[in-house]
Amino acid sequence: MKILLAPSILSADCSRIGEEIKNVLKSGGDIIHFDVMDNHYVPNLTFGPMVLQSIRNFGITSIIDVHLMVTPVDSLIVQFSKAGADFITIHPESTNHLDRSLELIKSCGCKAGIAINPATSLGVLEYVIEKLDIILLMSVNPGFSGQEFIPSTFKKLLKVRKLIDKSNRKIFLEVDGGINLTNIQKVASYGANILVIGSAIFKSKSYLKTIKEMRDQLVF
Ligand code: DX5
Ligand code: ZN
Repeated sequence: MKILLAPSILSADCSRIGEEIKNVLKSGGDIIHFDVMDNHYVPNLTFGPMVLQSIRNFGITSIIDVHLMVTPVDSLIVQFSKAGADFITIHPESTNHLDRSLELIKSCGCKAGIAINPATSLGVLEYVIEKLDIILLMSVNPGFSGQEFIPSTFKKLLKVRKLIDKSNRKIFLEVDGGINLTNIQKVASYGANILVIGSAIFKSKSYLKTIKEMRDQLVF
């Protein structure tokens, strides 16, 4: 499976979000990571479905990977799918009925993912792995960009890689938070194949140069 770079627009200049997305895709980003925060599940507030719809209307046709950090989550699953989401990932803590919420994502025609916080056990995967298209490992506590990568993620990453391989299913293994030029190679070598990157791309001078330097490290 090709390793996908997923720039997170949480770190972009929101006054010109459409242009930012076009630039980062032209510079080599593969898919767009769209962080939705509600000041309830996490202590920050970001974008709603209207913003996603505007991005689609602006002509962005790439995969949009919606990461929902909200509670309650079900009504927003429906709204984001209508607004143009391709992937929808939810946190198990944000729903009372995880299986039902995953079914809802699939019935809306989107790929379904679970996001695992740094202190959340992998046990939650046991009964739903058959329904998953994406497992997203949080390598920071959700809520903000620009935080440091939590090293215990590596141990977890190996465990999830094994679970996925054993399942014999095509499941993306996504890592989100604190990825930069110094750790990207290690994260990928531990088995991740979607790498979410916020500040390391958007706070750099040249998206093209940064993405190229990252991509150069992903040849194994
Ligand atoms: C954190 C978000 C991340 C964040 C990553 O809650 O889910 O997607 O934007 O940003 P960096 O790469 O700066 O840690
Ligand atoms: Zn995210």
